[in-house]
Amino acid sequence: MLQEKTVFLSFNSQEDLDSKACQFIMERAELAIREKGSFLIVLSGGTTPVNVYKLLAKEQINFEKWHIYFGDERCFPLNHLERNSNIAGSIWLSKVNIPKTNIFIIPAELGNIDGSLSYEKILDKNKPFDLVMLGLGEDGHIASLFPNQKWDNSKQVISVSNSPKAPSHRISLTPSRLSNTEEVLFLISGKNKSYAFNQWKEGNDLPASLISAKNKISIMSYDLI
Ligand code: 6PG
Repeated sequence: MLQEKTVFLSFNSQEDLDSKACQFIMERAELAIREKGSFLIVLSGGTTPVNVYKLLAKEQINFEKWHIYFGDERCFPLNHLERNSNIAGSIWLSKVNIPKTNIFIIPAELGNIDGSLSYEKILDKNKPFDLVMLGLGEDGHIASLFPNQKWDNSKQVISVSNSPKAPSHRISLTPSRLSNTEEVLFLISGKNKSYAFNQWKEGNDLPASLISAKNKISIMSYDLI
């Protein structure tokens, strides 16, 4: 079931969605920095957010107070091109003035178990995120939390060893940690996501249904039927 405070924004083109998402993120950052002196954002993996990251890389703003976390990571070697942190790093984070000490990469090169234990120590459970970005898989997964799988929601970070989306070994934040945030932003594009999205809206038990936020969940979509 969708959380009460959910806002739907449907766009007529991917470009419009990307542009609005970029503006939305910058507005949240400005607000958080004004109120708390920093902006803690969790980046989503996959391909949907790539153009938003590229747009953010072009923004002439001060990124110094941005603190970057990741919702999940694929267990590949450190410099593997398909690591979510390398995707965001190559097209955005390496091109702006975010201090390296403000980028908290999930150490997936340690393996799913050691990497998850290490990231668990890095995250401060008493420090809510300001914005968590998430995508939606065709099967309704979010981050590396897949349908019909179990995980210890008392933790902030878990190891995954049977991901149906390659690679099988991953590290993911839990639904409870992803929900410990002021706001959530879902970016969902493509007819191939429609079934999962409608299942979620109709209240079916999907990982996406486990996500909540202190203030609001925004769902920006394009080309869902
Ligand atoms: C990953 C992501 C995953 C992704 C969805 C949607 O590691 O692949 O964390 O959760 O967000 O699978 O992926 P697309 O945006 O590529 O459709």
